[in-house]
Amino acid sequence: MALGRAGSQAISIRGVDLVYTGQGEPVPALSQVDLEVAESEFVSLIGPSGCGKSTLLRLVADLLPPTRGAVLIGGRPASETRRERRIGLVFQEPALMPWRRVMANVTLPLEIVGQRSGQREVAKRLLRLVGLEGFERLYPAQLSGGMRQRVAIARALTADPVVLLMDEPFGALDEITRDRMNTELLKIWQETGKTILFVTHSLAEAVYLSDRVAVLTPRPGRIRTVINITLPRPRQPEIKQSEEFFALENQVLRALGGTG
Ligand SMILES: Nc1ncnc2c1ncn2[C@@H]1O[C@H](COP(=O)(O)OP(=O)(O)OP(=O)(O)O)[C@@H](O)[C@H]1O
Ligand SMILES: [Mg+2]
Repeated sequence: MALGRAGSQAISIRGVDLVYTGQGEPVPALSQVDLEVAESEFVSLIGPSGCGKSTLLRLVADLLPPTRGAVLIGGRPASETRRERRIGLVFQEPALMPWRRVMANVTLPLEIVGQRSGQREVAKRLLRLVGLEGFERLYPAQLSGGMRQRVAIARALTADPVVLLMDEPFGALDEITRDRMNTELLKIWQETGKTILFVTHSLAEAVYLSDRVAVLTPRPGRIRTVINITLPRPRQPEIKQSEEFFALENQVLRALGGTG
C-alpha cells in the first residue's frame, strides 16, 4: 500500500482548533484536537451532539481550514489530497443523483476528473464489492435505503481515495439494516485496506467496527480519550454478545459521561 511519505501517518490532526465565525458570536467548535490515524486503520469518533465530529471530518476533507493547527494526509497538507480528489466522503444521506442510474452515479467522480477509459469496469468492480451486482441499471428511487448507501460507498471508492471519511453513514437506517451494513463495511474495509475515519452515535457500531474509538467532549470538542478495541478480527456479529464486547461498550459509555 502506498504511503504518501515513508513512515507518515494516513491522517495527522495536530493541535487543531476550529472557531466558526460569521454572523453573531464566534462559535468555538473544536479545541486542541490531536489525533493520528495509521494507514489502513479504522478509527471512530463518538461524542455528544454538537461536539464537532462533522466539523472534524470537514477539516480532514479540507472543506474547511483549521483556525489553528494542521491536518495532514499521508504526510502532506490535506488540501493537496483534496485537489487530487483522493478523499472519499460518505454522509448520512447518500445524495445520489436521482436521474442517473446506479452505474452512472458510481462513475460520476471519474467523469468529473475526465477519466474516460475503464470507467465502467471500475464501477462494476466496486458495485460487486458493495453487493450490488446486477443493480447497475436501476435508479436510486428503486433502491432501499441500505442499497442507496452502498451506492454512495461505491461512489466514494471510485477515485481510489487515500482516506475514507464517513459521517454517520448508517444513521438513517433501521437497526437490522444497519447491523448488516456494519458487517458489509468490515468486509469492504478488509478487501480494500482503506484508512477509515467514521463518525457515529452508536456505541455498539463504534466498538464493532473500530481499531480505536476516539471519545470527544461536549463543545468545544476535545479528544477526551482514545479506547483501543482489542476484539479479534475478522469480527462476526456474534461477537456483540461477548463479555469483552459489553466491557468495551461500557468503557466507551463511561468515557462519554466523563467518568472513564
Ligand atoms: N457553519 C457553521 N457556522 C456556525 N456554527 C456551526 C457551523 N457548523 C456547525 N456549527 C456549530 O459547531 C458545533 C459543532 O457542529 P458539528 O456539526 O461539527 O457537530 P457534530 O458533533 O457533528 O453534531 P451531531 O452529532 O449532531 O451531528 C455545533 O455547536 C454547531 O452548532
Ligand atoms: Mg454531525
